[in-house]
Amino acid sequence: MSTSSTNQNDDKHLEYLLAGAPTEAERLNLQQKIFTALFPGREYIHTAPFDLSRVHRVLDVATGTGIWLERLWKEGQDGQKLRADVELQGCDIDLSKVTTHQTSKDLQITYIQHNVLQEFPAHMHNQYDLVQMRFVLLAMNTVQYAQAIRNLRRLLREGGTLQLVELDPLPNPPTNSVERTMKEICEGLWSRTDKDPTGICLNMLDHVTSNGFLEEKVNTFTHPWPFASPSGFEASLHRDVLLKSSQNYLMVVQALKQAVLHYAQTDPIAGMSTAQAWDSFFEQATKHFASSGYAGSLYIAIAVK
Ligand SMILES: C[S@@+](CC[C@H](N)C(=O)[O-])C[C@H]1O[C@@H](n2cnc3c(N)ncnc32)[C@H](O)[C@@H]1O
Repeated sequence: MSTSSTNQNDDKHLEYLLAGAPTEAERLNLQQKIFTALFPGREYIHTAPFDLSRVHRVLDVATGTGIWLERLWKEGQDGQKLRADVELQGCDIDLSKVTTHQTSKDLQITYIQHNVLQEFPAHMHNQYDLVQMRFVLLAMNTVQYAQAIRNLRRLLREGGTLQLVELDPLPNPPTNSVERTMKEICEGLWSRTDKDPTGICLNMLDHVTSNGFLEEKVNTFTHPWPFASPSGFEASLHRDVLLKSSQNYLMVVQALKQAVLHYAQTDPIAGMSTAQAWDSFFEQATKHFASSGYAGSLYIAIAVK
């Protein structure tokens, strides 16, 4: 792996709520397996035909472990592979989760430590054919998301493509006590981070359409995650995907413990410490998701400069 840093010192205050979990890298790699099972052969754009042979340089922003870049390189899309001389780069505010460096003699990914809320260095502007940012919802409010999109647009060449993938920010209301508690915990944690305004970004599409992309090529959709694939419904999915998805969700719940303990009151309430209360909730959640699985919706936006 080769790494370089653009602004390490300013990044400390941005809180990524799952950052403290030792299993976060493992979870992100598991999550990619769900994508791969849901969208076989379409590692890059799930909604539109795309000519991979014209791609020279790819950047995965908020890359986590780098797993998406590795899958893109290994699988390509619709049977078409990337060019042999493609440059693959990953960027993240924190590179400690990177697990994917050089998993084969031909695969070389360069990683850059950078906060997407800050402008990228000028030498990176107008260089990329393809930029992706996936699953940063727990890290950004609407003002920050807008800033990130402005920064990413500058990186694209004319005709370059930006792909944004998120869980639907407006999911169905919770239907039971475990889901309600999860929602309250996430909202509570969010309000304690130092983000102003508080609240996650609910209007991602507005930030794409107001940034001078070719609007007619902006494409968004939601579909159940993981209970349906683009080609069918529940029945088309292997049970394994459902199990992985529940496991992924439980790992999120587990990972949030670090943030809960960080932000919670330290005094015991009703004789129970915050850690004990959390462990008891985790037990309930485990039972709940083991029996019902987890369904959310995916939101995918594609914009061409
Ligand atoms: C849920 S993980 C998603 C990782 C990867 N995109 C994936 O889908 O597997 C969110 C990632 O965003 C990174 N992140 C959070 N805020 C960021 C920022 N302001 N700039 C760059 N990366 C950031 C975190 O460090 C973390 O790796």
